Amino acid sequence: MNRLPVWIDGDPGVDDAAAIFVAHDREELQIVGISAVAGNAPLDITTKNALCLCDMMQADYPVYRGASGPLMRAYEDGADFHGADGMGGTNLPAPKRSAETQSAWDALYEEAKKHDGKLEVVAMGPLTNIALALSKYPDLKNLIHRIAIMGGSVTRGNRTPCAEYNIFADPDAAQIVFRSGVKVVMCPLEVTEQAYLTAQELEALRTTEKGEFYYQASKHILAKNLEAGHEGFCIHDVCPVLYLAREDIFKGEDAGVFVETQSNLTLGKTVCDLYSDKQFDVKNTFVALEIDREAFVEAVSRAMK
Ligand code: BDR
Ligand code: CA
Repeated sequence: MNRLPVWIDGDPGVDDAAAIFVAHDREELQIVGISAVAGNAPLDITTKNALCLCDMMQADYPVYRGASGPLMRAYEDGADFHGADGMGGTNLPAPKRSAETQSAWDALYEEAKKHDGKLEVVAMGPLTNIALALSKYPDLKNLIHRIAIMGGSVTRGNRTPCAEYNIFADPDAAQIVFRSGVKVVMCPLEVTEQAYLTAQELEALRTTEKGEFYYQASKHILAKNLEAGHEGFCIHDVCPVLYLAREDIFKGEDAGVFVETQSNLTLGKTVCDLYSDKQFDVKNTFVALEIDREAFVEAVSRAMK
């Protein structure tokens, strides 16, 4: 099987960790680089976590440092959900190696040039690194096949009543990505909240070292998700990875999507024309709306083995 070359950008982050495990596990995908961005935790911590996850998988993927904050706004972490260490208080030991010296955006560009327009980008944190790469290298948009993101929502929000965290954290960067001309695959809250593990399913992971780590890292978020009325722990970031590997388990629609960057009230809203009489001029985005949850649970469980 020809594996799709995949660049992973994220802010690990408990759900980012599962997404990296899944990407590593899938025979359809080949990770070619991982870049960290400030998001769920500050940049030093998300970079450290990316390296530690590689150690756990015994993988030598190059890891790059990216942006330490949003393009134009103040940085706010996600410690309330992910803990100060970004990994639910598991406090991973120091990684065995360091991050590469090249920046995330330079490395992404260099890697994209090698793949003849076939590089897939997964973005599962604030979109700062990807926006910086697209802005610094205007031809990068022709070298990337798709950008699959966890971010945004069609109808609702989790950071504000209408904005999802990754988009709200850097709306200006997100707008650059949606306006870039690269096809975006958006996994909004509507689909990522179907991608959950119940308490029993999470407990069942505990038979392996990775699974036990994952249980410990996510048990606090599980409790918060249950409190908020979800049926389990939503592992949002697995969706864009799984979309690239198993498009067949998703349903969705093409739509026009752009980002609100001006209004205080609706900052970071992904304005999507799916349910509107009036449409944008372009369908720049495939919006995933449904996932086969059984296949999702199977993929996450397999990746923890
Ligand atoms: C997104 O926000 C982060 O906290 C998660 O890692 C995920 O990428 C969900 O809104
Ligand atoms: Ca994330």
